[in-house]
Amino acid sequence: MSIHSPAPDWFQMPHGHERLWIGLALVWCLIMFAMMPFWHFKGKQNSTGESYSVTPAEFTERAEKFAQTNKVSEHNGIPVAEPPPGGDAYLLARMWSWYPVLKLRKGETYRLHISSADLQHGFSLQPINMNFQVMPGYDHVLTITPTHTGEFTIVCNEFCGIGHHAMIGKIFVE
Ligand code: CUA
Repeated sequence: MSIHSPAPDWFQMPHGHERLWIGLALVWCLIMFAMMPFWHFKGKQNSTGESYSVTPAEFTERAEKFAQTNKVSEHNGIPVAEPPPGGDAYLLARMWSWYPVLKLRKGETYRLHISSADLQHGFSLQPINMNFQVMPGYDHVLTITPTHTGEFTIVCNEFCGIGHHAMIGKIFVE
């Protein structure tokens, strides 16, 4: 007998407790599977948003244009951009910063475009704990309406290299 020619009786049907555990595992898998659509409609999980195809170079250009056109001040050397209420805001993730800093108004709705210029990053908005994957090649659009004023921190929660721990961004809501 070898791995290429196993004994003809190598497979044995599960029996006894083995059957019971396989059955329980299968039932649990089905429950977990049903929870996915259930929480999509019933839960308070993060929006799935919309996404469009974009090259990293195109998105970088849009984010830079947005930051220059809407710049109101600077924060730690990064431009602070204030998009028009109801308008588009851009947030570019790249090793290892979030660009630009955003200034938003409470109660106004924005179309927030998020993408990456290099590799995968994780957008984690603290302290409210909203989390999204940030992928190069995808313009991920979230329609957002800030409901609280204050200073919010964006933490990168996807390991992206040596500067990952320092990849911190800001959103100010007035
Ligand atoms: Cu970007 Cu970790």
